[in-house]
Amino acid sequence: MSALRARGAADVGTASGRVILVGGGPGALDLLTLRAWRALQTADVVVVDRLAPTEVLDDLPPHVEVIDVGKVPGHHRVPQEEINEILLEQARLGRVVVRLKGGDPFVFGRGGEEAIACREGGIVVEIIPGVSSALSVPALADIPLTHRGTVAAFHVLSGHDGLDEAAVTCLKHRSATVVILMGVAMLERIVDQALAAGSDPALPAAIVENGSTPAQRVTRAPLGELVARAEQVGVRNPAVIVLGDVAAPGLLTPASVGDQAVAGRPTRVRAGFVPEHAGHDVASGARVLLA
Ligand SMILES: C[S@@+](CC[C@H](N)C(=O)[O-])C[C@H]1O[C@@H](n2cnc3c(N)ncnc32)[C@H](O)[C@@H]1O
Repeated sequence: MSALRARGAADVGTASGRVILVGGGPGALDLLTLRAWRALQTADVVVVDRLAPTEVLDDLPPHVEVIDVGKVPGHHRVPQEEINEILLEQARLGRVVVRLKGGDPFVFGRGGEEAIACREGGIVVEIIPGVSSALSVPALADIPLTHRGTVAAFHVLSGHDGLDEAAVTCLKHRSATVVILMGVAMLERIVDQALAAGSDPALPAAIVENGSTPAQRVTRAPLGELVARAEQVGVRNPAVIVLGDVAAPGLLTPASVGDQAVAGRPTRVRAGFVPEHAGHDVASGARVLLA
């Protein structure tokens, strides 16, 4: 007993039961890491979120139990305390519990709270980082968060409460790219805040919905026109909002190819998982070919 105390509660599992907090990436199966995939092969039970790459569940061995605690915005959701309870209960049964989350578990994923709850309950927790939508979704839309000669920093925030002070400063001085998760419902307030603080209405902006999935769509507009454009095309969650010079259409397009884009022809071809028909850039009207 004293030996157990000396090791601390965080190290004490219940039989072999433990929890693995797994970041599943932005949605595409092949953006799940190899470590995450390996963890899934060891699972007895998988507790899964709405934005996790659920396709991977189809290949789990039949004995693996799947518990869906998916959170649909505006609808019934499993409260966080109940999710924590499920993790503890399952691990206490001696099971290997994979908690599969979208993106990275520690980026607006409440993974920290789940880790604390498990450790408070004496359950061993392992963390497997994931490919966060904050970084990967802009990249999939050809938007680099930093770009030599354009900007050398970025700031990621939740849009739930509008812009924070740091974001306002970044936008006003064009000193860092601002990346906003969970910001669609607050888009108007976000834009108003930025403009009221003196941001340039011509500042490039983009919204990327359903990144990495066949439904991926990119909407671009200058900051001052972003709300109207988003309403026009019906932007919806899940989406990542990118504000800053790196969101300029054609930033990564060589001048020779850019001429074609102006004529409404395909802007670029690049390798990717998303099928060709899915790539669509709403600002230019030009299709983005994804071969
Ligand atoms: C609760 S946060 C979780 C973020 C996640 N932990 C991550 O690292 O990507 C959910 C938000 O992430 C963003 N998001 C997640 N997956 C996305 C995707 N495939 N396309 C666009 N946005 C996504 C959206 O802003 C969504 O509202």
